[in-house]
Amino acid sequence: MRLFLDTASMEEIREINRWGVLSGVTTNPTLVAREHQDAERVWKEILAEVDGDVSLETTVLEAGAMYEQGADLAQMGPNAVIKVPMTPDGLKAGKRLVEDGIRINVTLVFSPAQAILAAEIGAYIVSPFLGRIDDVASDGMFVLRQICEIYDVQGYGTQVLAASLRHPMHVVEAALAGAHIATMPYEVFTKLVKHPLTDIGLNQFMKDWEALQKELKEGA
Ligand code: E4P
Repeated sequence: MRLFLDTASMEEIREINRWGVLSGVTTNPTLVAREHQDAERVWKEILAEVDGDVSLETTVLEAGAMYEQGADLAQMGPNAVIKVPMTPDGLKAGKRLVEDGIRINVTLVFSPAQAILAAEIGAYIVSPFLGRIDDVASDGMFVLRQICEIYDVQGYGTQVLAASLRHPMHVVEAALAGAHIATMPYEVFTKLVKHPLTDIGLNQFMKDWEALQKELKEGA
């Protein structure tokens, strides 16, 4: 499962990129707005920094305009993936982009039925939003498992990107469900690496190592 960062912050992207585990980035209008900068500048910087897929989201609702914007955004870099929303207009624009050979990510997906539509237009990626499903007292992970199973049974080539992940167990369960990609905020990424027993173990190793150095020095 590829790990993506869900952010438009260069600081966060550079930090996780240095770990050697970053396979891509997803952005959305809210995340870009948080940077308080020209969107094109933000997208270009991310595309240049990341050696992997970067999702850029369209910001118009009508199919024709969405197609035009998506085609323009796709010119920004070979690693650009164009996000279109799961609406009739998003499907129409997405289908045209796919026909042009542009890779699309169908976003704001909340049900297996919507995921089937995304696959049928030949989307490169489908993004079910797990956390937001949980927020309305439903089961996001169950929806993800159903999508993965349907894609498997039907032999769809669309990659399932588990989005709106809120904690490390979302990531672990998405991997178990067979998601191809998991995208998560910086806070969740940094929690993946943490375990109290790692800290306790490392502390003890360092203490014992220093004690040995002291002992050898005193005996010399
Ligand atoms: C994915 O592409 C979305 O940007 C994202 O995962 C949404 O997550 P949120 O529900 O935490 O805003």
